[in-house]
Amino acid sequence: MKKDTIGEPLNRVDGRLKVTGGAKYSGEYKFPNLTYAVLVPTTITNGTVTAVDIRAAKYAPGVLAVITPFNAPKVPGYQPDAKKPVKGLKLFNDNQIHFNGQPIALVVADTFERATYAASLVKATYQAQPFETNFHKNFDSGVTPDGGKYKDYVRGEADAYKNAPVKIEQEYIQPSEMHNPMELHVTTAYWEGDDHVTVYTKSQGVMSSQRAVAAAFDLEPTNVQINSRFVGGAFGSSLRTWPHEIAAVQAARLVKRPVKLTLTREQMFTLVGYRPLTIQKIGLGATADGKLVGITHESHSQTAVYEEFTEGAVNVSRFLYQSPNANTRYKVVPLNIGVPAPMRGPGESTGAYALESAMDELSYALNLDPIELRLRNYTDADQERNLPWSSKYLKECYQLGADRIGWSNRAQKPGTVKDGDWLVGYGIGCGAFGAYRGHAEAKIKLMADGSVNIQSATTDIGPGTNTAMIVIAADTLGLPAEKITFDLGNSSLPPAPTQGGSSTVSSVGSAVHDVCVALKQKLYILQGKPQDSTDDIDYAGVLKQQNLPYLEVTKGSQSGDNAKNYSMYSFSAHFAKVYVHPLTGVVKIKNLIAVVDAGKIVNHKTAASQMKGGAVGGIGMAMTEEAIIDDRFGRYVNGNFADYHVPVNADIPQIEAIFIDKADPIINPVGTKGIGEISLIGVAPAIANAVYNATGIRVRDLPITPDKLI
Ligand code: MOS
Repeated sequence: MKKDTIGEPLNRVDGRLKVTGGAKYSGEYKFPNLTYAVLVPTTITNGTVTAVDIRAAKYAPGVLAVITPFNAPKVPGYQPDAKKPVKGLKLFNDNQIHFNGQPIALVVADTFERATYAASLVKATYQAQPFETNFHKNFDSGVTPDGGKYKDYVRGEADAYKNAPVKIEQEYIQPSEMHNPMELHVTTAYWEGDDHVTVYTKSQGVMSSQRAVAAAFDLEPTNVQINSRFVGGAFGSSLRTWPHEIAAVQAARLVKRPVKLTLTREQMFTLVGYRPLTIQKIGLGATADGKLVGITHESHSQTAVYEEFTEGAVNVSRFLYQSPNANTRYKVVPLNIGVPAPMRGPGESTGAYALESAMDELSYALNLDPIELRLRNYTDADQERNLPWSSKYLKECYQLGADRIGWSNRAQKPGTVKDGDWLVGYGIGCGAFGAYRGHAEAKIKLMADGSVNIQSATTDIGPGTNTAMIVIAADTLGLPAEKITFDLGNSSLPPAPTQGGSSTVSSVGSAVHDVCVALKQKLYILQGKPQDSTDDIDYAGVLKQQNLPYLEVTKGSQSGDNAKNYSMYSFSAHFAKVYVHPLTGVVKIKNLIAVVDAGKIVNHKTAASQMKGGAVGGIGMAMTEEAIIDDRFGRYVNGNFADYHVPVNADIPQIEAIFIDKADPIINPVGTKGIGEISLIGVAPAIANAVYNATGIRVRDLPITPDKLI
């Protein structure tokens, strides 16, 4: 019998470990003979390092090695004849400098303090070249990336908005934002012999980290053991293996001792990616009764000179609203900066900020309620791919959110609702993110006492993955959650995809579901029953009766062919109520409501937490976050938590998540679509639109700081 545990607000199974310090993060493992590595960043922004004087550093107390481009042991994957060439920056492999902050040396010592001191003694000489870090100045040198995905897109007629009876055309700027997870990026590595390495690292994908380290050092993947049991936030910054992780492994091989490399907060601004500064132009044209006739969306964003980073910033404009004509253009501008990376809601967060702000502007141009405008342009099919949605309940999201935020108290005329000295405004911003599912495997072991352990090489960057997996297993097996344990974060477990793109529950959850079904079938067969029986199983009893000490089943799971016939997305509608003080420009976000169509919700408690976390990211995007480069030096001027403002508790209002909670019939057996990304996508425009509704001031360059409102 199915027990219907799905959805129950189960507490995080590792919550106690996390709040009592029992959860170990990658920097917290102790090893005998552990050594400490510290990176030395370059002080120039483009050119070559011509010499590195390491004499003082090398003879400083406790120093074991100083690695520079002039003495670094070769990393096989960095060489031109590599079997699997490593992409991106090849640290210490040559003397080229591409951006300020790029490491030019790594010091290993027996204590962190000694390594830090010795690093300060490293002196480099450079041949500096002119550099470009100013995006605005270099805007016109944007290039369209290779590859079909980023080609100019046209449906119907390009720029059709220009001839519409009602139109708007605006530019929106979203600055660089850093992921800034609370946990620093840390890698600890030790070798056994010359062909086995064990790595503890902050990673969103232990299997992809294993492949990356194996490729870099030309090893069999099975000779590389990656552990990432707990991750203190990542938001996309640990989707890939970074050059400093390879450097830590390289250093450990050289000194033949475990090496721990911890990035500083400042280094996290240059070495582990960020959401790139992006300027978007949107043109929207509509009939007088608010039917879209054309959408044009152009995006320019930064990338690095040494590696191209792309994301789907313009994609949302191709499918979110009904329009006979739509066209998008996407360009990247290479600069002397570190390479960007996906950051929560990659592409879509940026794109939805522009599109959803523009929709709001159009609603005022039409003198039409912004929700009504969205209803008039609702689509029941993906027009880009010409496919039906697997499921879509965005209309229901509009309704539920409007009721909950008190939309009926909103005035169409900005600046007219007041509460004492404060102006009051309401805004909506929507989001969508592809519902992905990859191949994943899970192994289940039923023990003699009737408890089960399930394993899969997924990770948990914070959403509560193991808790969700236990809920799915409890539901499928008809067992109480306390009987089930789930292991993850270790590359020796059955393979699973990287935790990213909101796909873990769909991918790994399906494998867990399927392996539980397979175990039940095996047990029915052992009892001489048809494998699709539905009666309750006495798990311990069957093992005893069959004289089995335990029973193990492994199962892989992936999408069926039917998935190709549908367009699959999670959808969200975010609602904001803000108070703005007209004299000081202070914005108080009073309320945020996220209404979510993400299919079936596996655990209402952890899912709501994840929605709230994403909304906090959206508040940062709207109100506080901006990484600023001083173009005279090519260096971030606010590379720390004092000057780069992340929202703090005092900035966070009541946030509420409302789930449609209807299973998607296509994507996977559990019916989930994913929530990690849509928790953020649409939040910033909801806030910006509410600020406009309150004040009549449209801020088109984030963040919305008080100076922009007075
Ligand atoms: Mo997410 S940006 O796929 O970690």
